[in-house]
Amino acid sequence: MPESVIAQRAPFAMEVEAGRKYAWCACGRSATQPLCDGSHKDTGFSPVIIKAERSETVYFCGCKRTGSAPFCDGTHKVL
Ligand code: FES
Repeated sequence: MPESVIAQRAPFAMEVEAGRKYAWCACGRSATQPLCDGSHKDTGFSPVIIKAERSETVYFCGCKRTGSAPFCDGTHKVL
């Protein structure tokens, strides 16, 4: 399985809406970061789907190396 691509070495802050689903790009190849655009096809990666419990700002991982996908856990600081 290939390595995930580092989309950026920082999280993506994004407003999410309560009850809406979001597909976080795990492979790093999506052109619509931090969300999936289907580019993971044939990479062995799959997006991580979440349903927002409330409307708020979340910080999706941009480096794709987080230990708590789909959210940033600070791992990007040591890459
Ligand atoms: S952006 Fe990946 S851990 Fe922070």
